[in-house]
Amino acid sequence: MIVEIERAAREAGAILLENALTDIQVSFKENHELVTTADLASEKFLKIRLAEIEPSAGFLGEESWNGEYPDPPFWVVDPLDGTNNFAHGYPVFAVSIAFWNGSSIEAGCIYDPTRNEAFSAAAGKGARLNDSSISTTDTDRLGDCILATGFPYHRKPSNLGVNLEILKYFLGRVQGIRRSGSAALDLAYVAAGRLDGFWEEHLKPWDMAAGALIVREAGGEISSFTGGEWDISSTGMVASGKSIYPKIQACIRTPDLSLHRTC
Ligand code: IPD
Ligand code: CA
Ligand code: CA
Repeated sequence: MIVEIERAAREAGAILLENALTDIQVSFKENHELVTTADLASEKFLKIRLAEIEPSAGFLGEESWNGEYPDPPFWVVDPLDGTNNFAHGYPVFAVSIAFWNGSSIEAGCIYDPTRNEAFSAAAGKGARLNDSSISTTDTDRLGDCILATGFPYHRKPSNLGVNLEILKYFLGRVQGIRRSGSAALDLAYVAAGRLDGFWEEHLKPWDMAAGALIVREAGGEISSFTGGEWDISSTGMVASGKSIYPKIQACIRTPDLSLHRTC
């Protein structure tokens, strides 16, 4: 199945690149979220294409979601992760496809069409970047880390404050912080060892599903934002190499930031 998923992700990626060369139409959803003609074209294509791979599976795609989870198994699809980047001609975006069987992600692929990089995993089979296997880093020192994070579209004190405090904390202690604008690629880069860790408080299933499996299969650790077991209904995520995970999570989940001195 993973070979077919990767093929579908590559085909959807080609649609994004074709659209990038045209006059992209941008409109706004609720919460200041952008949507472009490319998001819609990619999702329309994937709904049909993935049904050919597994006709009995439901479909949970960002652009057509009605707020209800389909009966499992179902596909979890972000047809264009990094829409804001895409709309500005900033070449950091991806297609993300995962297959959820009702209790876990069985297979997933994140495809970056600008670099022709497909990050993929099938449960129990390890993680790959194109034809090579990949693994998370094994550092256990925050001072050796590059971390990434993201911010929700609708930024207000109630959903921003905690992350700004966390950001301030890490900024003084790690080698670098990145904010790519594509949570799916952030997770793929954790899996590939290009980043040591990632956290984001407000995410949707399609941002995380494929990356959750790929990071785990690359030997990393994932959890919900607050440290519980990650699940398709989780609203955020922490992901990193196994050795650094306890230090990252300890700092994120401590609400009293003065306690961060002990992290
Ligand atoms: C967004 C990106 C971004 C993250 C946002 C997501 P979209 O997804 O993944 O990195 O910070 O929270 O909504 O809207 O580009 O598919
Ligand atoms: Ca997304
Ligand atoms: Ca999207």
